[in-house]
Order: sequence, then structure tokens, then C-alpha cells
Amino acid sequence: MTGRKLLRGVAIVGAGMSKFGAFPEKNSRDLFVEAFKDMSRSVDKGFDPKQIESFFLGNFSSDLFEHQGHTAPLLGDAVGLTPIPSARVENACASGATAIRQGVMAIASGLYDVVLVGGAEKMTNLPTSEVTDTLATAADVPFEIAAGFTFPGFYAAMATAYMDKHGMKPEHLMNVAIKNHENGALNPNAQFGTTIPKWMEGRIASAVKKGKPVPAWSDIWDFLHDDAANPMVAWPLRLFDCSPITDGASALLLVAEDRAKEFSNAPLHILASTQTSDVALHNRADLTSLSAAKLAASQAYEMAGVTAQDIRIAEVHDCFTIAEVIASEDIGFFAPGEGFKAAEDGVTARLGAKPINTSGGLKSKGHPVGASGVAQVFEVWKQMRTEAGERQVPGDVPLAMTHNVGATGSTCVVHILERRD
Ligand code: COA
Repeated sequence: MTGRKLLRGVAIVGAGMSKFGAFPEKNSRDLFVEAFKDMSRSVDKGFDPKQIESFFLGNFSSDLFEHQGHTAPLLGDAVGLTPIPSARVENACASGATAIRQGVMAIASGLYDVVLVGGAEKMTNLPTSEVTDTLATAADVPFEIAAGFTFPGFYAAMATAYMDKHGMKPEHLMNVAIKNHENGALNPNAQFGTTIPKWMEGRIASAVKKGKPVPAWSDIWDFLHDDAANPMVAWPLRLFDCSPITDGASALLLVAEDRAKEFSNAPLHILASTQTSDVALHNRADLTSLSAAKLAASQAYEMAGVTAQDIRIAEVHDCFTIAEVIASEDIGFFAPGEGFKAAEDGVTARLGAKPINTSGGLKSKGHPVGASGVAQVFEVWKQMRTEAGERQVPGDVPLAMTHNVGATGSTCVVHILERRD
């Protein structure tokens, strides 16, 4: 796709999200209204919802999670958008970023100037077994799910292949979880807003209070190796290697670049928006990287005219800890086989040279699948505008990347964003 450019520039002038977590009393519509209000408050110079000309909603499976299809007009109506066009975009866990890309293309084509992009998923209505079944519909069902795979199983297969090729140990993956929980503890919107040491202390305090036997963990490594506290889900992936089941929503306001200053003092400019696809996992020769992600990232660098060295921070799709290790290599931050070492050495920590998932990532912030790709952009919006509070990275963030994966990499969507002052 050499030389592809947007016909006109697109900027982000507002970003918002609901809190992520388990909210029995709320549906995806309630959560989306929260995200929309949060986004509206973030538009520096304000806007009238009547200025919005089109709406794209990332949502994976409201049909199965909530028994509700045709979600976009309903959620659009809840924030006063009728009669403008509203469309749901389904691309598994990459539904959110795919919706952003639809919004970008709608503006770049000249059809619209102001577009709302959202993401929403309400997952916790169902028991875990039914959530697992629903998520499995994103895989190649007759060839993979019928053979007994689940999503933790797929990523476990990738982890074992990576361990075999690069000499990584399961303990290395725990560094990713520890780091993402450190970041999530600084994020008020995170589902699991606590560090793993605090989580462990909480378990001890709870045992003392209930008069139960007090676990004798010597440190967090002991805790993370305890099969009761951190059970095996699919070897080598344990509970703390997995993203959770989450309810949540997110929203962005996109506008034509030449109108951005009407809305915002500090808009973000979309330098690249790329999307790729790949064969299902069972047809791939190599499980240790995602071809779709490597291609989407290289196309994005070319489109933006920048390199991996220029990117200050990235939000990547860490649905499992191994996914973050592989992503950090696929986007070119590290050479193959070096991603797990970078996590171990603190390079990807919030204060490291290449911060990854300052939001806490899907692991700690939560993963309401259709909302995640849009929420990744919310995080870089906060960081690039130095509004991330306690989790703000030091120094300027002139360029940032988001990397959102559908299923096991059958889809990948990458965005590169720039702040210009
Ligand atoms: N990390 C850490 N702790 C978690 C967790 C996670 N991902 N998920 C749940 N927990 C905790 C809960 O808070 C709860 O703690 P408590 O006992 O102190 O209250 C405990 O584990 C049990 O929670 P529960 O919801 O019953 O867990 P579960 O066993 O039903 O589900 C998983 C755990 C990992 C199987 C489930 O979260 C899962 O399937 N995750 C992957 C989702 C996925 O595949 N997404 C798409 C990726 S492509």
C-alpha cells in the first residue's frame, strides 16, 4: 500500500470513557451515555451534539451478551443523535479501532466534517463459560473451537511457541502483569485499580478478618506461583496473565483537521490509520508474532513518515500477557525475542524508555471488547495532553501509537497520533 495518504487530515477533539468493571445495574446504553458525557466535557471549546453528522460504534456481540442487536441507532438515540446515520462495526476485539478507522475515512473522503466514534460492550451478564463461548465466535469455529480451543488456549499456544523459540520462562510473563497493574492502580477508570502487592495484602487482610488460615506468601512471586491464588487457566497462562471480563464504553469526537481549532486548544492529529488481516491461527506457520500486526505497524510508520524510535508511548492489545510481549516486537519497539527482556528490565514501565500500556492495558484497566480500541486512544489523548494525572509519563508525548487486535490477529488496526503545538 505504498504511498497511501488521507485525502484530508483528521483530528481528535474530544475523548471520554466510562469506568470499566462489572456493573450489574447498567447496560451498554447506560455505559455509552457516561462515555459520551465524559467525551463532551473534554472538548475544550464545547460543541453542540447537533454538529455530529455520523456515528460509528465498535461493538462485538451485543446480540449474544445482551440479546440486543442493531445497537448503534439505539446508543446514538440515547445521546440525541437521530436522525444521522449510525452504524455498528464488528471486528471482534478490534471493533473499536475499526470503528475509528471508519470515522477517519468518512471525514477524509470529504463526506462529513464531524463524526462520533464509540465503543461499548456489556459482558458480565453471562457466566464465564458463556462469555468464553461468545468470544470463541471470533475464531475459526469449525476448525479451532470444534477442536477444543478457547481464547486462553490460543494465546497459551502462542506463549509455548514463543518460550520454545526464545527461551522465555512463564515468570517473564508475570513482569507484564505486575507492570500493568502498577499502571492500572493509577487509573481511576480501571477495573482492577490495584497493584499486585496490594492485591496480595488484601487477600491476607481478608483471611485474618474472616478467621481463615492466613496464606504464608513471602513475596508477590510466591503469590503469583500459588495455584490457589493465581490458578492455571491454560498452561503457561494463569489468572493474572489474562484480561478480565468487563463492562465499559468509550467515545471520541473526530473532525476535519482544518476545523479542529473550532473545538479544541490541543487537538490530536491522526497521522496514520491502518488495518490488515490474516488467516486464522491454525493456518499459520509461526505463532510467535502476528503478521497482521507487523504489517499494520509498518504501513502506519510509512503513512505517518515516522519510525518506531519516534513513538514515545504505545497502548497495545494485551488480552493476555504474551500478547503484549509479541505486540511490543510486532510494532518494532524491540527485536524478535527481546520483548520479554524489555518488560523484565523495566523498559516498558511508565518511567521506562518505551512506556507500554500506561492505562494498565486490557489486563488491569479491563477489556470490554468492542470498547477497548477506542479506550486505547482515550489513554494516549490524556497522556499527549498531559492530563493523565498520577500516571502521566514524564516529558513530552509528541507521537503515540495504538495497536488493537481482533481474535488471534486475524485483524489488526494501528493508529499513530501526533500533538502539534
Ligand atoms: N486477573 C486477575 N484476577 C481476576 C481476573 C483477571 N483477569 N479475572 C477475575 N479475577 C478475579 C476476580 O476478581 C475474583 O477475585 P475475588 O475472588 O477476590 O473476588 C476471582 O478472580 C474470580 O473471578 P471470576 O470472575 O469468577 O473468574 P473466572 O474464573 O470466572 O474468570 C478468566 C477468569 C481468566 C477465565 C476470565 O476473566 C477470562 O475468560 N478472561 C479472558 C477473557 C478473554 O478471553 N477476552 C478476549 C481476549 S481475545
